[in-house]
Amino acid sequence: MEKKYNIGVIGGDGIGPEIIKEGVKVLKSVSEVLNFKLEFIEYDFGGERYLKTGETLPDSAIEEFKKLDAIYLGAVGHPDVPPGILEKGILLKIRFELDQYINLRPVKLYPGVWTPLKDKKPEDIDYVVVRENTEGLYCGIGGNFKKGTSDEIATQLSINTRKGIERCIKYAFKLAKERNKKKSLTVVDKANVLTFEGDLWRRTAIEISKEFPDIKLDFAFVDATCMWMVKNPEWFDVIVTNNMFGDIITDLGAITQGGLGIAAGGNINPEGVSMFEPIHGSAPKYAGKNVACPLATILAGGMMLETLGEKKGFEIIERAIIKAISEGYIKSLEAGKMGITTTEAGDLIAKFVQEIK
Ligand code: IPM
Ligand code: MN
Repeated sequence: MEKKYNIGVIGGDGIGPEIIKEGVKVLKSVSEVLNFKLEFIEYDFGGERYLKTGETLPDSAIEEFKKLDAIYLGAVGHPDVPPGILEKGILLKIRFELDQYINLRPVKLYPGVWTPLKDKKPEDIDYVVVRENTEGLYCGIGGNFKKGTSDEIATQLSINTRKGIERCIKYAFKLAKERNKKKSLTVVDKANVLTFEGDLWRRTAIEISKEFPDIKLDFAFVDATCMWMVKNPEWFDVIVTNNMFGDIITDLGAITQGGLGIAAGGNINPEGVSMFEPIHGSAPKYAGKNVACPLATILAGGMMLETLGEKKGFEIIERAIIKAISEGYIKSLEAGKMGITTTEAGDLIAKFVQEIK
């Protein structure tokens, strides 16, 4: 019997709906070629809905999401909504409630893509950041005291559980083993200052490393890591780090692989429902202009297929993207500079998918 996957689609805000439309187009094309069925269920959560109804994401939606095979997200963030409301109310709520404890962010330079790193080639920039996705500074635990006075205090707690760290590090070790490349795992932290959490991460990693004797484990401070990601990206294979550091270093990683136009990520619950998205935001200034680069979203769709067990689907999408870039069909990954429109870029990749198979 033909396999069928139910995919929840949240276009969201800004350029979100435009790029997700192209992603869906490409996924449909892949499903025709590989003979599986995709059912897309659209949701209108985002800034517009919040401004109209005051609702971000009701609990009933989370219950519906739990029955899906995966979620495909454009971007959230609206200029008329104060920062934090949509991010916490939609994006982080989904990550937390669906326990998507891994944020998987490959940093891979494709042939023909311009990188700001001088003399670095595709073989030098190919690693994956495994970002812890449900703890750390993102828990929202903290508060303020004497708000609005000159004695005001604000606290924001970093939560690190043994269980949370362990499952994340295990995932990273397994990934290093599956990738079968440099067979190395780098734990990125700030153990020289954040001594309590750093110590827990390091002890946990050393303990788990005994289950993975063929993977080389090392440790690096996050500030130095930023430098090496620019100077010697070829040193990395798999990086594992906490939520906050992972957020920051993956924007840096993204620019080294050609920019946010191509950087994709997955919020993964290996035992549950995962969500895939470009790592860029809603870019309101480009919204509605048909100029945004949809490649990151399309690639995120590929990662979704891979996680669903359709590895070939990912490979076809990746090859179609490489063809479009390296043969000059898409001139730049920056919004407005691609040389073609968002829609045309989606059409092109969907067509290449049919040709490549
Ligand atoms: C990301 C984003 C989010 C994050 C924001 C929008 C909450 O920057 O996915 O990297 O910080 O995780
Ligand atoms: Mn980010």
